[in-house]
Amino acid sequence: MSIVDEIKDRLDIVEVISAYVPLKRAGRRYKGLCPFHTEKTPSFVVFPETGTWHCFGACGTGGDIFTFIMRYENMDFREALEFLARKAGVELRSEQPRDSEAERQRERLRAVCAAAALYYHHLLLNHPQAEGARAYLARRGIDEETIRSFQLGYALDDWEACQRYLLEQGHALEDIVAAGLVVERQSGSGYYDRFRGRVMIPICDVQGRVIAFGARSLDGSPPKYLNSPQTPIFDKGRTLFGLDKARQAIRAADQVIIVEGYMDVIAAHQYGYANVVASMGTALTEAQLRQLKRYTKNFTLALDPDAAGQQATLRGLEQARQALDRETVPVLTPNGLVRYERRLQAELRILSLPNGQDPDECIRNDPEGWPALVESALPIIDFYLQRVVETYDLNTARGKASAVAEIVPLIRELADDVMRQHYIQLLARRVQVDERIIEQQVLKRGRGERQAAHPVPVDVSHIERLDVEEYCLAQMIARPELIERVAAELAQVSVEPLDAEDFERAENREIFKLMQAAEGAWGVPEFVEQLPDALRSQWTRLAQAVAEMPALPADEAVKDMVDTVLRLRAARVRRSLGELQQLLAEAQEAGEEAAARDYTSLAQERTREIGQLQMILARRTLAGKREQAGSSPH
Ligand code: UTP
Ligand code: MN
Repeated sequence: MSIVDEIKDRLDIVEVISAYVPLKRAGRRYKGLCPFHTEKTPSFVVFPETGTWHCFGACGTGGDIFTFIMRYENMDFREALEFLARKAGVELRSEQPRDSEAERQRERLRAVCAAAALYYHHLLLNHPQAEGARAYLARRGIDEETIRSFQLGYALDDWEACQRYLLEQGHALEDIVAAGLVVERQSGSGYYDRFRGRVMIPICDVQGRVIAFGARSLDGSPPKYLNSPQTPIFDKGRTLFGLDKARQAIRAADQVIIVEGYMDVIAAHQYGYANVVASMGTALTEAQLRQLKRYTKNFTLALDPDAAGQQATLRGLEQARQALDRETVPVLTPNGLVRYERRLQAELRILSLPNGQDPDECIRNDPEGWPALVESALPIIDFYLQRVVETYDLNTARGKASAVAEIVPLIRELADDVMRQHYIQLLARRVQVDERIIEQQVLKRGRGERQAAHPVPVDVSHIERLDVEEYCLAQMIARPELIERVAAELAQVSVEPLDAEDFERAENREIFKLMQAAEGAWGVPEFVEQLPDALRSQWTRLAQAVAEMPALPADEAVKDMVDTVLRLRAARVRRSLGELQQLLAEAQEAGEEAAARDYTSLAQERTREIGQLQMILARRTLAGKREQAGSSPH
């Protein structure tokens, strides 16, 4: 039994979660108000038999006690493991020696960084050589209090001053090197300070511990900013500058503003706008977005105003959009029909700043104007609309078609019907195309969406929401006769057939196995009767959803099912990749080279696999688009 299973075995999920969320018994399940979004009717469900929880409301997430604690307490897996192990009275024996060695190193590197930050800070405040740096910061309007709260510092223009200081403080050279503060000389022997004659900006983790530095040259000579390298405690792609100081404010404002530069964050915080963090110049990563999602669903991106940045920005945006959660929801149309749609669970807005200024300059020039500026940020869809108008020649049929094709998927993702209608009208007016034509395009099924070609009237009051796993099962339950065709289509693109491991949640996996064994004969009472109690409620839910699902023509249903399997598979490979990356990191820390090599090659294989799946999905989407384009009027 794995340590994780042992912990799960010993802990009662209802008891654990009850400590955070008041739960009421509802049959075999327990219900409560979801702690991860605001709601009035309880849609947060705990399944004691399977040790899982699920929110059937707006956030649509779920998992086991580990995922719950990770989310609620903002812990990573390791922390949650330690936390729950303590609760369960399980000793983390096997993990301890190796883990604590790696952890001890990280602890030492953090100590090195903390000491360095203090040292640089002290120099900035007191050293005669720092006069220029003090004047520089003063010229930039950075006040004393900000210098202290961000613990800004100065590195002497000296090759060994920092190294000497840290060694005197009793830190090991090895750790100082690993923390990225000194660098081994290429020629000759010895080490030199990485940061010299620069303003030092400590970069902290979410808990406010210094893990790296950004260092600005005073005269702007290149590189303008020199940053710490990747270290065991610093991964640039997983860090957001300022998050430790911003997270309270992000929660309170239910909004985060993402800027590019250190100075942008520093200025914003100085003027009391504390819900601002920086991606440190690179395109936003999924890991960064995932972190932010813990605090808010409302993201505003302050973009680099220079036009050269636009292409990169758009790619970053596209990635951001992909990374955000979607949920499948049944939607009631005005005429009493139901549609299933995948809608974005976040609001992404773009802040275009005036006259080529960056946020730092904007805030300084007009501190009181900032909230209004933020307020003026365009929803991503308006931003694209504006761009489309600038990019395409809307007097030509081709231009119109391209513009519509670019905007329609964004309209589909809108969570609000009134907003959708608004944008349909807006787009129609901009491209001078009949509104009804755009409406038709929006209603058509596109990538990741599922919509009824022939909506059927139903009462949606008790339709429950399905996630991808459940949706996949529901599709199979609904159309057993199409499963062969789905397998054949998958084989055509060299994708393995669906199997139990594709399902992450235990109860779905079990249901899938039983369905497989039944070979399509699950529409009979005997099938339901032989279901273990633990699965019956889930089965009932799925069956109910099936009854209320619109009937698609067979071809469309097959296409939909294949897409669902591909997505499920991609999610599974991604999970596996994540696990391998953890193992790899551990092996590297422990210096287990052979194991690290194995994990690396496995991880590469997974990455390739994900790439392939994405390509297949993209091709299918493209084929779908061609069909759409073919049927659109010119
Ligand atoms: P900017 O050049 O916009 O930074 O780069 P900034 O904060 O406005 O700098 P100031 O106002 O001139 O001092 C945005 C971010 O890109 C990263 C840094 O994180 C910077 O804050 N960057 C930029 C680097 O890492 N290295 C560089 O050489 C330049
Ligand atoms: Mn700037």
